[in-house]
Amino acid sequence: MTRQLFDSVAAEYDAYRPDYPSQLFDALESAMGQPLMWSEVCDVGAGTGIATRALAGRGANVTAVDPGIGVLGVLRSRSTSRVRVVVGDGNALPLRDGLFDLVSYAQSFHWTDPSLSVAEALRVLKPGGVLATWWNRHDLSVPWFADHQERLHAVCEVPPHPDESWVAKMLAAPPWSRHVAVVEIPWRRRISLEDFGRALLTVSYVFALGDRAREVVDAELAQLADLHPEGVMDEPFTTYAVMARR
Ligand SMILES: C[S@@+](CC[C@H](N)C(=O)[O-])C[C@H]1O[C@@H](n2cnc3c(N)ncnc32)[C@H](O)[C@@H]1O
Repeated sequence: MTRQLFDSVAAEYDAYRPDYPSQLFDALESAMGQPLMWSEVCDVGAGTGIATRALAGRGANVTAVDPGIGVLGVLRSRSTSRVRVVVGDGNALPLRDGLFDLVSYAQSFHWTDPSLSVAEALRVLKPGGVLATWWNRHDLSVPWFADHQERLHAVCEVPPHPDESWVAKMLAAPPWSRHVAVVEIPWRRRISLEDFGRALLTVSYVFALGDRAREVVDAELAQLADLHPEGVMDEPFTTYAVMARR
């Protein structure tokens, strides 16, 4: 069942998955034409709250929506009073019309059904509000990292590299016909191989391997250790964001 998929790895997800670069939040403010401070934000697929905390940290009042009770438990335990927690589905938001300046999906839009979730986002946005989706894509222009991803995808039997550019095309085309802005932000995080392994175990297609997941991750870490004998690496990302106005 995909709706509570991440509940079983909630604590590790929160501890080891990457957060988002500050330029992303600058771009959101530019698109909104107002600061996040005092803005009303609905963060859909909020999970353990990695994006929710960053939005609230900029002063937004955030309504965090997710169907997963387990991930929301972590989110609640780490949130301030600026965050309201709602158990719900992005395809049928249990929220009134016209409440929000921003509806955000951090690594979560692809878990919704766009034929339902876009209409829901537009319904709960104020006029002129912004729908924003983003993902931390790995930067595959870095050859050793591209090789690692290729091996991982092959052993997990998943398609090579998810490409979220369909979201921009979908929002620009009828029936939505929105003006769409796309932003790409390159950045890196320094991470120990051990923690990188822990992050890998929270990737949906890796933990779907069940008992084999640990073995697959250990094999990958052994390959990476040859390249990074000091035990740390720079994990390369490009944060890819798509924004559209209501
Ligand atoms: C990859 S996690 C992203 C979590 C968080 N936004 C972050 O930045 O770390 C995807 C989240 O989408 C949630 N999700 C799955 N299906 C959903 C749906 N139909 N509506 C809303 N959220 C959903 C999952 O429970 C999970 O917490």
